[in-house]
Amino acid sequence: MIKACIFDLDGVIVDTAKYHFLAWRRLANELGFDFSEEDNEQLKGVSRMGSLELILQWGGIRLSEPEKLAWADKKNSWYREYILKMQPDEILDGVLPFLAELKGKDIQMGLGSASKNALDIITQIGLRELFESVVDGARATKSKPDPQVFLLGAAELGRQPSECIVFEDAAKGVEAALNGGFYAVGIGRAEHLGHAHLVIPDFKGLSFEDILEAIHQKA
Ligand code: BG6
Ligand code: MG
Repeated sequence: MIKACIFDLDGVIVDTAKYHFLAWRRLANELGFDFSEEDNEQLKGVSRMGSLELILQWGGIRLSEPEKLAWADKKNSWYREYILKMQPDEILDGVLPFLAELKGKDIQMGLGSASKNALDIITQIGLRELFESVVDGARATKSKPDPQVFLLGAAELGRQPSECIVFEDAAKGVEAALNGGFYAVGIGRAEHLGHAHLVIPDFKGLSFEDILEAIHQKA
């Protein structure tokens, strides 16, 4: 029986990937190189410092640890300029009706994000009250595909992983959910997320019953 749903934030509830991309690209450009939106796919679900390491590798740039911290801070301040302007109308299509349906059915809701900005974002878009548990990048010490972020959330909700569905847009996030023994629904394209129990392009027109039926068929 599914008793709870745990949502990743970036790319599932809101499209912050485009803001991360703009801010990381600005950093790369200031360091004298560029990268594509396809490269950016590899950064989804990866922590701030993990993302910086990858980007520096792509640019063939070596920095000292203090320099890395300073650039990561710069990127975060550019990123925060975008997210602090976010409005509730940036919640992705279909998400609000889906969350309202869960609330009506007494399905518990949690957030499991690698982002240290997660609380600010859900507050900004008016969803803070909906989530009974919020585990963000400040609380989770291990990066996805480690299941820690979701395991902490399930424990906080008082549920077993087998009673929870995790919704994730990142390949590493789906992997984390599966590693923790959760049902995993991938949001995006099957070519990136084929290991999930179910892949949907978005929440538009989908009911909780549709999702339950599909994951039980595959499980
Ligand atoms: C994840 C994003 O949710 O959070 C990653 O998918 C991001 O792209 C990570 O790097 C950390 O975010 P922040 O806000 O702590 O820099
Ligand atoms: Mg994500």
